[in-house]
Amino acid sequence: MASGDHKDRIYNFSAGPSMLPLSVLETAAAEMTNYRGSGMSVMEMSHRSRTYLAIFDEVKSSLRSALNVPDTHEILFMQGGATFQFSAAPLNLIGESGEADYAVTGSFAAVAAKEARKYGRINIAASSEDRDFSYIPAQDALKLSENARYFYYCANNTIYGTEWKYVPETAGVPIVCDMSSNILSKPVDVSKYGVIFAGVQKNMAPAGMAVVIVDKSLAGRELPYTPKIMGYKTAIEKDSMDNTPPCYTIYMLGLVLKWLETQGGVAGMERKKAAKAKLLYDALDSSRLFTGRAEKQARSDMNITFGTNDPKLDEKFVREAAGRGLANLAGHRSAGGMRASVYNAMPEEGVLALTGFMRDFEAENIKYK
Ligand SMILES: Cc1ncc(COP(=O)(O)O)c(C=O)c1O
Repeated sequence: MASGDHKDRIYNFSAGPSMLPLSVLETAAAEMTNYRGSGMSVMEMSHRSRTYLAIFDEVKSSLRSALNVPDTHEILFMQGGATFQFSAAPLNLIGESGEADYAVTGSFAAVAAKEARKYGRINIAASSEDRDFSYIPAQDALKLSENARYFYYCANNTIYGTEWKYVPETAGVPIVCDMSSNILSKPVDVSKYGVIFAGVQKNMAPAGMAVVIVDKSLAGRELPYTPKIMGYKTAIEKDSMDNTPPCYTIYMLGLVLKWLETQGGVAGMERKKAAKAKLLYDALDSSRLFTGRAEKQARSDMNITFGTNDPKLDEKFVREAAGRGLANLAGHRSAGGMRASVYNAMPEEGVLALTGFMRDFEAENIKYK
């Protein structure tokens, strides 16, 4: 069981949906049946009501200030999670018989490229599949094509545990970036991006929505058959309310953003996540039993992937860790091994509990190797 502040909760290392800050859950619980004297839950409110619109506007402005989003970009809340955006990107940006460049550094980027191929010619600008997605290609390895309408990459590869440490240079071609698993973990220069999108279920809110930050000058390029509900233009014009938005998820995002402010914003998060990731990577680097999966210079600070090179021992580790209140440490079913997802809401104590358990497990099991 987790200690201190975390009461009877366990440390949940799930890749998403994942931990939310306890204080956020407690505020949500306190406001659950009667939101600030309104006599109803936020779940029950009309999205057009004055009370709800006040929540909605505050969430947008908190997010704008947290990520320092410039006026050139609009913040959208779209349903369908990040996967919906795999289709939305080409349908909004590729144009008639268009082309786009994709960097494939993991499964989600591969799925996005496959989806985009339905709508145009997709060039693989780079891939790290040759070494099992364990690295991130360097800038000079990116093969950019002349006619690409956009360049697509996934900033943090949740399954393989790698993270881009640079923003690609694309000579003016708009960048579309999936930041599902590292948004709000560090400052980002939003002005460098055409579109940033992120499923909210890791660092932001309960599942069911994506935050999309789009350069307004890119709206209106959708294909004639692009569903209206998928259009950036529609969402901008209707302020994400062409239909009923995921009201409660947006409210929860607002609570998370308030909590984020108390943690020093994204700059505070960057310091904390670097410290947490260092604890885990130092533990891996000094271990004789565990090895990290990602190449060192590409290591993600959010998803730390590792293993013992023995599937049976990996299984034992995951099982025994769960017995100690360290839950959901199994790697993705396609990657095997272990994965510790240490998103913003994971306290450092959780990581210390994990590294402590890794040491104990190693002492007990190294002899069997
Ligand atoms: C990087 C990345 N992109 C996309 C997705 C898919 O997100 P969703 O389930 O919200 O569609 C995930 C889910 O884990 C992810 O980690």
